[in-house]
Amino acid sequence: MRRIAFWSPKGGVGKTTLALNFAAAAYYAGNKVIVCDLDPQQSAVDVFSENQLPFTVIANMPQVMPNVDFLICDYAPSVERLPLEETIIMPMRASMLDLKAIGRSTRLVRGKRIIKCVNAVDTRRQDERIIAMKLYAEGAQLIKGRSIYVRSMGKGQTVFQQNVYGARDAQNEINRLLQRVLQPE
Ligand SMILES: Nc1ncnc2c1ncn2[C@@H]1O[C@H](COP(=O)(O)OP(=O)(O)O)[C@@H](O)[C@H]1O
Ligand SMILES: [Mg+2]
Repeated sequence: MRRIAFWSPKGGVGKTTLALNFAAAAYYAGNKVIVCDLDPQQSAVDVFSENQLPFTVIANMPQVMPNVDFLICDYAPSVERLPLEETIIMPMRASMLDLKAIGRSTRLVRGKRIIKCVNAVDTRRQDERIIAMKLYAEGAQLIKGRSIYVRSMGKGQTVFQQNVYGARDAQNEINRLLQRVLQPE
């Protein structure tokens, strides 16, 4: 079983959106998947309550480890509860402030495999493009800013359940994140 944390000390960077879409990518690739919502705000559980997701979201860490291929943990934006999982996907924005905070954030989870994920990149903005390309050159994954992420979550679904124009591009970038996790470092 692979245990993956979506964690960042920052809120609103896309932990929940990416955790659920990543879970869908893993599910549609043929894996058994479970998502644990570790944020007291329970946003992932809220999405799940629409009964549209093809996998289960549970409201806390399970007492008994389930028999699944992927245990995906959606963390609260906090340094009080640091992730225990071996792989940490750390979403961030393509902003100067996030760039400055990265070093601090990664030091908190030293010794783990950390995959930085620059999320919701607005490619029309040069400032964001420059920061995103710098992080990409250093090994970060890129996820573009797309309304399909917002609209699908609003329906209790993931981008993998949409077949409108642009959905395929979103699916592809999430699948690339999955491939990154699956490939050895
Ligand atoms: N790639 C993206 N493109 C556009 N909007 C996004 C993207 N990722 C996240 N969002 C939006 O950003 C906001 C914060 O995302 P969320 O997943 O709730 O972050 P967190 O869990 O880190 O607080 C939400 O409104 C979400 O719809
Ligand atoms: Mg969240």
